[in-house]
Amino acid sequence: MGRLVVVSNRIALPDNSKNGAGGLAVGLLDALQEQGGLWFGWNGEISKITGEEEPLQIEQDKNITYAACSLTQNDYDLYYSQFSNTVIWPAFHYRLDLVEYQREAWEGYLHVNQLLAAKLSPLLQQNDVVWVHDYHLLPFAAALREQGSQHPLGFFLHIPFPAPEVLMALPDYQEILRLMTAYNLLGFQTERDAKAFLAAIAHETELVTVEKGGYQAYGNTFHVHDYPIGIDPDSIRKLAEGPLPPKMQAIRQELGDAKNIIACERLDYSKGIPERFLAYESFLEKYPEHRGNIRYTQIAPTSRGEVQAYQAIRHQLETETGRINGKYGTMSWTPLYYLNQHFDRRLLMKIFRLTDIALITPLRDGMNLVAKEYLAAQDPTDPGVLILSKFAGAACELTEALLVNPYDRDEVAKAILNATTMSKEERIRRHAIMMDTLSHQTITRWRETFLDDLYKISQ
Ligand code: G6P
Repeated sequence: MGRLVVVSNRIALPDNSKNGAGGLAVGLLDALQEQGGLWFGWNGEISKITGEEEPLQIEQDKNITYAACSLTQNDYDLYYSQFSNTVIWPAFHYRLDLVEYQREAWEGYLHVNQLLAAKLSPLLQQNDVVWVHDYHLLPFAAALREQGSQHPLGFFLHIPFPAPEVLMALPDYQEILRLMTAYNLLGFQTERDAKAFLAAIAHETELVTVEKGGYQAYGNTFHVHDYPIGIDPDSIRKLAEGPLPPKMQAIRQELGDAKNIIACERLDYSKGIPERFLAYESFLEKYPEHRGNIRYTQIAPTSRGEVQAYQAIRHQLETETGRINGKYGTMSWTPLYYLNQHFDRRLLMKIFRLTDIALITPLRDGMNLVAKEYLAAQDPTDPGVLILSKFAGAACELTEALLVNPYDRDEVAKAILNATTMSKEERIRRHAIMMDTLSHQTITRWRETFLDDLYKISQ
């Protein structure tokens, strides 16, 4: 078996990998460690030297080689801020109102994909298998093929794939579809995403089913499947159970006897945070007997702060927090805590364990691993309740959560009420069923199934 080569927009370099990295990075690092491999991507830095001339930053840590490059300001703006995060991200999350399309950004996006492919190409060895991640790199396989690569090329999309009518609003959607078919295997979070991708192709061109469950279109042969991404429940449980650092004692006291609601995500409009604030307000309005006995903590560190839509939502949350606390708070009770800060993952898992309700209501989400992490962090003999949006990929598996429509304030308010009053027996029953699912669909199983399929179809 050859090396595994992982390509992603952001790369977790050795110093900040295992300790600070999220579950996905750790899962991929484990695979790279086991079979030896290369991780290639952007190091998060802006360089003054043009991409073609800039040498790669290469680091070796045991079995893994890290090869990272920086981007020029112009490449970063066009490829990352504009096309990836002001065109693809909003469109794939059904927010066409936030798409700001510019042809120049599309060209910049293609250019950076070609640049990255040209930089990776000389590092590849004959038997390597390449696994590319996420929406920044939809055309990467086609660019690598142009460099002469014959390697098996797999791709996993971590975000939703939109319904064809939504995709078709993007002026370059036909080209995007055609370029994506240069991958040998395309993995999606849910069956709905995989079907949407195939439906979009079938709408544009002839889509033929071939042997081994593959497809042919645009002169390419490729496979498409759903691989719901999971977590490592044991490692999360260990983090959550671990000894409380001294500052946790203070947090425990602050949480007090009130029912505690927690929500945590990057500050992103796809997460439905303003809608959730309004649903919480609706709860306080409709069920006034709970005022003073409930506390909602929203953790949302700034993300993609240079993009206008992200600045706008940050401003909106600051305003809404002030308004809700001003309206309902008392001298001794603050109903809503909004923390625009990054929390260490180890601390976060302990906070999850101390809280009664997780309110995870994205308007659209590829999977939502926080929902899964919240469950794994619970004490199974007295677990908290998960309220989850039906538009998160995780809702397909976590059917024992209180599933809600995040646009329906009354429904979310009712779910908060149900969660605060749910019996211990029912909490234990629901949690156990969902943990059973999570302990089978782990991050290890996710990557092994994907890579097994990629190896099989490449033989
Ligand atoms: C989502 C995307 C990832 C991305 C992450 C953080 O989870 O699917 O590809 O890395 O957000 O966003 P950022 O723009 O900071 O890389």
